[in-house]
Amino acid sequence: MVFAVDQSPRALRTVRRRAAALALRNVCVGSSLLEVLTNLNGRPCDFILLYDMLHFLDLRERRELYSGLHNVLAANGRLSVHLTHVKDNDPDGHFAKMTVDDGVREIEMAGFCRVGKIPARVWHSYGAVDSLIWSFVKRSYF
Ligand SMILES: C[S@@+](CC[C@H](N)C(=O)[O-])C[C@H]1O[C@@H](n2cnc3c(N)ncnc32)[C@H](O)[C@@H]1O
Repeated sequence: MVFAVDQSPRALRTVRRRAAALALRNVCVGSSLLEVLTNLNGRPCDFILLYDMLHFLDLRERRELYSGLHNVLAANGRLSVHLTHVKDNDPDGHFAKMTVDDGVREIEMAGFCRVGKIPARVWHSYGAVDSLIWSFVKRSYF
């Protein structure tokens, strides 16, 4: 199953529409992480993507998110993160004064261990850009 979370009803409608157009039956959408975690019924997640969204959350909200994700990520699962709008790259939101390294360190401090830094061409805002995708596993002794 794929669970897509976004607070924007418009974004959720787009996901539903595209999933339907591709006849995908394994995509669930929800507006809050709590709602989606409830739907998981204790099943672990193999792969979690946080792409271009952490800068919307303040530190308390990010810590809550990391903690919730730490609980549901499978022991050998991956947390994949696209850190955007940091200090030296189109600064915005709660990351405007943080560097990418600050963001990575924050995730590590929340109980994850960095296992990869992958150069990738990803969609951002209105076009494809060369960027980095950070990959984490959870530290089991956290
Ligand atoms: C810049 S978009 C990126 C969307 C997508 N992850 C991507 O990479 O194309 C950020 C999205 O995060 C959503 N968002 C921001 N704060 C949120 C929150 N607290 N809970 C859920 N979604 C949130 C916004 O509605 C927006 O659609």
